[in-house]
Formats: sequence, structure tokens, C-alpha cells
Amino acid sequence: RQFLGGTAAIGAGLAGLYAWNRVDNFAYANIGKMPRLTMPKLLDATESRTAKLVAQKGSSVFKEQAANATFGFNQPYLGPTLRVSKGDFNPIIENQIPTPISVHWHGLLIPGAHDGGPHLPIAKGEEWAPKMQVDQPPATLWYHTHIHERTGHDVHKGLAGILQISDGRDDERGLPSDYGVDDLTLVLQDRRMDDQGFVSYQPAMPDYMHGFTGNAMLVNGQYGSVAVAPKSIVRLRLINGSNARIYALHFEDERAFQLIATDSGYLENPLMMTKLPLSPGERAEILVDFSSGKPALLKSDADPNQGPGGMMGNMMGRMRGMVDAVFDRSIDILPFVVDERVRPRITKFADKLDAPAFNLRRGDVVKTRTFIMDLMGGTEGFSINNQRFDMGRIDVDVALGSTEIWRVGSHMLAHPFHVHGAVFQVLSEGQSLPRPHNLGFKDTVLVGDEVELLIRFDHPASKEHPFMYHCHILEHEDAGMMGQFTVS
Ligand code: C2O
Ligand code: CU
Repeated sequence: RQFLGGTAAIGAGLAGLYAWNRVDNFAYANIGKMPRLTMPKLLDATESRTAKLVAQKGSSVFKEQAANATFGFNQPYLGPTLRVSKGDFNPIIENQIPTPISVHWHGLLIPGAHDGGPHLPIAKGEEWAPKMQVDQPPATLWYHTHIHERTGHDVHKGLAGILQISDGRDDERGLPSDYGVDDLTLVLQDRRMDDQGFVSYQPAMPDYMHGFTGNAMLVNGQYGSVAVAPKSIVRLRLINGSNARIYALHFEDERAFQLIATDSGYLENPLMMTKLPLSPGERAEILVDFSSGKPALLKSDADPNQGPGGMMGNMMGRMRGMVDAVFDRSIDILPFVVDERVRPRITKFADKLDAPAFNLRRGDVVKTRTFIMDLMGGTEGFSINNQRFDMGRIDVDVALGSTEIWRVGSHMLAHPFHVHGAVFQVLSEGQSLPRPHNLGFKDTVLVGDEVELLIRFDHPASKEHPFMYHCHILEHEDAGMMGQFTVS
């Protein structure tokens, strides 16, 4: 139903030949046979203040019997959920993979020297032991490797995990907090998978343009599983860990859910909605009501960059469609069933929450800068402000403690813009007020129309260990849609 006009016939005609590019469809009849979705293992560092992560090679079966060569932290694919709280956090990361990796703490507000970006590679056999201070409100963050020109490949292989900041007060807030029971962590990743269950990552030209998307969904590294919810309010921590896919999440029955947190923490006023856009790198926490006992199916609309929808994206999506024979379309993410035997804990949606105390003030703004993400910037191609990323060039120097406005625009496609080491608030989107899901504090925002960000820099970063700003479509980032800045 996403096919349009005459091109639909071409798409439909060739669809059989290119079945790998089709998104698998969900059949409720199979729900009883589906394996139960499991959570990433929880590594609670709130007491120990440390955690060991070992990047290693693994073998992962996602579908059928196909063994895929993957990477993970402490396991074959992805890594544990690290739970940290205010105060010291001294993890130890060891690399057992032949190529260099890094561990970037996406969303953690710490100095550049601990940030784990491209300037902090860990060679095979080496260890990295940053000594950090966590000092920010509860939030769902994540960690992933960030070696320039390898990020797309290595994150796709599995080098990512969740970093949860907790203050232990969610019971007082009346929020679900029982890990894996009524507080579910869902890492969303689409993969290009063949009928045998082999996953590939071989971006060709259109994939570089649009970012590498797939035809099959993994949730927490699992294919074709079903989540089990108690007959109550359930919290979903949604992490878009995909290389490129932009989701517009909603339930098949269009049930309303409550957005309680964005990238950097709780919203003061939770918002009811039925559809939630989530671009690569972004996180959102929602409360969903399962008290009726009815099963549910989490779905997503088509990616605006991949197929019909949105200006040039639309046009190029059609060109791609000619090649791939199938346009991107609505996909099934994850089915839920209700287990009535689990004692319900939380039975109502959230009221007002104590929101992050970032207190960004427009009156404090000392400077305005503009950034344009582009696929064809000047002679440079994938670029920001017509410059392709260069490890040896610092693009921006920011004053420590200052507040600025960053105007961010994009050409042709929608690009998720992420800034390291800082938190921001979206002031406007395309001259209008931000859309509801962009009202909270954030570190990544999807830029279609120009956005204005109110951003403060409280953490230092030197020339040796600068912070990055970049498009979080990993193929774009690897191709050079990234810049770096110091804070001093
Ligand atoms: Cu999640 Cu610079 O990255
Ligand atoms: Cu991009």
C-alpha cells in the first residue's frame, strides 16, 4: 500500500526477484510458537562503581540455523545494560577484536578525554579504563564503538549496549522499574537478512545515499520474538540502534501511550500520543497500558528517507525503488502478549515528573552557529558546512560553560544530528514550535526542516580529545558527515 502510481507495477513485478529487500510480515497465528524476548543482561554498577566490558568476536544465530559472525561486549552480540548512578564510574574496557574499537558513552555528560570517540581507539589486546563522574538526571543512554570509517560496520556487527542512569527513585515517581518485567529495554535494529538467516552489511551506492537499511527487525539482537507484559502499565525504553532506519512507532490498534522521557531524561509533563518518531541514536521512554489484557503489535511507518514521503527523499526513494524493486513500507517491530500471572504493579499513567535540572536559558546565549548536513557539500560530498570530516582539523571552539544557539539544517534527506558532551533543547523546527516528541532535553534530533537548538557546554574537550557532532546515520558519519569541537 506504500507503492504509488505506475512505479508500483515495476516494484511489484520485480519484488519476487529481490525478496531480500522485503520486510517480513507478522502473523498473529504464530504468536504461541515465538520465543520470548529477553532483556540484555543487567550489570548493576551503582554499588561497585565499575564494570568490565570485553569486546569480542562471536557467532550469532538470528533466524533458522544460520551462524553469523558478530561482535559483542561480554557476549556474542551487543552488550549488557550498564546501570550507573551519580558519582564515580570506572569501567574497564578490553578489546579482543583484531581491529581497533572504542566505547563512546552516547549521552553521558563527561569531559572529552573520557568520551570514547574516534580519538580514543583501543587496539587489540589493550585496555581502556576511564575514570568518570556521573552527574546528570536519570536517563536511558547507550554506548557504542566510534572508530572513524568503521562505526557503521562495527556497530552493525554488534558493538553497542545500553547505559542506564538511575537515581533509585522510580518507585516514588510511580514508574515501572522492574527490569525485564514491567520495565523493558528494547534495542531496535533492522538488518538485511536472507531467507537462510544470514545477515549482510555491504553498503552499495544507494545505501550510502540513504543509509543502510534492512528487511528484518532485531530487538535486543533477537529475531521473531514476542515480548511478555504484565496486565498493567509497562515502561518501554526504546533505543534506535539501527544504522540508518528512521521509525515512526505506533501500535497496530493505535492505542495511546505516554511519552515520559526523551534522550536526556524525564519530561516534566508526560505527553499522550499515538505515534512516536525515533531516528538513529535517539531514545524515548513510553508507558503503555496492557491492563486490558489484549495483545499488541508495535509497528513503524515507512522510513521517510527510504521511500515515499518527503521531497527529495521521496524522489530518490523512487530511484532506489527502481533498483531494489521494492519501496520501503510499514514494518512490524515487536508483538506483545500479556501474562496475567504476573502481579501488576503500576496501574496508572504518570503524573508530573521531576524533570532534568538542566535549566538552559535563552538569555545566556553568547553565540549562534549554523551547521548544514549535506550529501553533496561543495566538492566534498558527505559533509557538514561543505567540509568532510578530518581527524586533524578542529572545526569549532566553544567556551566552557557557555550557552549557544545551533541552527542545524539538512539538504535532501532528513539527518539525525547528534552532539557529544552537551545537552540541548529544541527551540524550533522549521520556524514553528518543536513537535511534541522533541520538547524534552536531548542529545540527538532528526533534522528535516531547520532546527534551532539551545545548547550548553559544561564539559571540557581538548584538541587531542575533542567532541564530535555528526549525522547518526552511520554510513553518512563514516563517509564524513561529522565535525569536531573543543570546549575550553
Ligand atoms: Cu552515538 Cu558520536 O555517537
Ligand atoms: Cu545523514
